Amino acid sequence: MQTSPVLNEAARILQQVQAGTPADAALRENLARTRHVSAPARRREVSHAVFTYFRWWRWLSPRDSLQTQVAAALALQQRFDQSPASVKPEALAARAVPDWLATEMDAVPAAWLQQLQRPPALWIRPQQAEATAVATALRECEPAAPLSGTTLAALRYTGTRDLFLTQQFQNGQFEIQDLASQLVGHACAPQPGEIWWDTCAGEGGKTMHLSDLMQNKGKIWASDRSLRRLDQLKKRAARAKAFNYRSAPWEGGEKLPTKTKFDGVLVDAPCSGIGTWQRNPHARWTTQPTDVHELAAVQQRLLQHVAPSVKSGGRLIYAVCTLARAETTAVAEAFSTAHPEFAPLPLTSLGSEKSSLMLWPHELNANGMFIAAWRRR
Ligand SMILES: C[S@@+](CC[C@H](N)C(=O)[O-])C[C@H]1O[C@@H](n2cnc3c(N)ncnc32)[C@H](O)[C@@H]1O
Repeated sequence: MQTSPVLNEAARILQQVQAGTPADAALRENLARTRHVSAPARRREVSHAVFTYFRWWRWLSPRDSLQTQVAAALALQQRFDQSPASVKPEALAARAVPDWLATEMDAVPAAWLQQLQRPPALWIRPQQAEATAVATALRECEPAAPLSGTTLAALRYTGTRDLFLTQQFQNGQFEIQDLASQLVGHACAPQPGEIWWDTCAGEGGKTMHLSDLMQNKGKIWASDRSLRRLDQLKKRAARAKAFNYRSAPWEGGEKLPTKTKFDGVLVDAPCSGIGTWQRNPHARWTTQPTDVHELAAVQQRLLQHVAPSVKSGGRLIYAVCTLARAETTAVAEAFSTAHPEFAPLPLTSLGSEKSSLMLWPHELNANGMFIAAWRRR
């Protein structure tokens, strides 16, 4: 049972969420405010309490105070962690996810629903040359299961330190990056000296991974519609000493930021984020089917617009951290039909002969992700 200061702090954050702030943003804001005044263990307990509330939300009674509901959620979590079978699959299907989901996914595996109710794993991506040094320094790390043909530097951090405060993070030796996101970089498998375009680069998680895989040789164009995110990318890339990139704002329209023809183009598209619902359970209750369909249209447009920039023999990689049919297989099928000049490209660097893969959280112990690849004929 949690102490009441943790329940009170969690309830205060939940009030902020009820007033319209997304839970992850409210927690980030709380973290920034308390980083230097409260112990890391206390901040972790508060985050855990808030996320646990949203994980078990449909089991709670809204008539109870927020403190009582958080305490009830924590008790349910403890029971589930000790004995996952104590919560029946039918109860998970009815309460762990919104009702509309069943019509938007081809299948809702029971093992995925169970995984959704567990606290998520924390993955880090050491720079390739730093993997051993980082694992040694951080100590409580487990390597990812190897993929046939590809060396993964990914480490699962099992300790309790605030990784952002470690010297290794500040030196740019590693980034916090989910394993599924790291697999997107490996799906691209860029070679040193190639020219790539990371079309939806955001704050640069994939750009920096591509740069590391390219040994800082060649060039990556990093675009996004958000200048604020591109600004963050610059700071992160400087810390990682990733220099072989050039940032170029792009709204996603037909007019491209360059006439360059690329060896590879990555579309890490905006999506409904269903694959992140273990990490961010509040999003289960705010995401709507209209988001799925509006974003599917954006994804199709992005692919359509970037296709001409892939050079003959070049690769096009599509990735979304969602599992909804309309944003995954349907987008890939529509693109293949509209673009016979692109041939499906087996994802051999991920150990698969298939040209598209649904990565499931319960199989990877990471976010869910869909990846599809083509080669221009
Ligand atoms: C999934 S996130 C990218 C994450 C990033 N690649 C990373 O690894 O950190 C999708 C990005 O697409 C951007 N975006 C959204 N709509 C866009 C559009 N129409 N054109 C270009 N970028 C867009 C968002 O600003 C967001 O940064």
